[in-house]
Amino acid sequence: MSFILDHIKQDCISKNVPIISDNTVAFLQDFLRKHPAKNYAELWTAQGFSTIIAAEILKSHHASLWTRELSYPQYKAAISNFSLYWYHWITAYYADVLNCDREKFISDKLDIVFIDAQKSHYHLMIESIRAHVVDDWFIILDDVIKFKSKTAKLYHWLDENNIRYTVHQLDDDDGIIVIQK
Ligand SMILES: C[S@@+](CC[C@H](N)C(=O)[O-])C[C@H]1O[C@@H](n2cnc3c(N)ncnc32)[C@H](O)[C@@H]1O
Repeated sequence: MSFILDHIKQDCISKNVPIISDNTVAFLQDFLRKHPAKNYAELWTAQGFSTIIAAEILKSHHASLWTRELSYPQYKAAISNFSLYWYHWITAYYADVLNCDREKFISDKLDIVFIDAQKSHYHLMIESIRAHVVDDWFIILDDVIKFKSKTAKLYHWLDENNIRYTVHQLDDDDGIIVIQK
């Protein structure tokens, strides 16, 4: 991890801004190396830590990357962190994807969507983004094991809609879901 990225990570930790775990970082890096998306989206940004992890890999594939954040101070911090990397090609929005005009925000079809947000809304987020992803798309959901009461709706919704998914346990008590169309 670069000095700047480690600084961003430590800054988030000191301010209690949630970021993805080291094992999720490793998984995401490996996944994006194997599946270099042309159009990648992340819900949500926080201060841009996981966005930069993805951008480091996708920059050499001339990918487009957009991310969205609900909190204005977090959004501002993310923009400032992206500028440390000269990642001006990242499109960051200050918006709530569940309550906005998505057509205005998403111009391209997406290949990979990484979702790391309110666990109880995961199924709503997938529903909101599904129409914007291409065949063979992937949706990756973070923290799907630990917060059982919050993710119950997600598992119910996935089963109800016959959506196949794979759970990867990455940490002792947590892990991610990968959904492929
Ligand atoms: C777990 S953090 C994301 C951490 C980020 N993936 C990282 O590792 O750097 C979740 C963020 O989602 C934001 N958020 C929650 N609900 C949202 C919504 N409906 N729209 C946009 N952002 C939202 C919160 O403000 C918070 O900053």
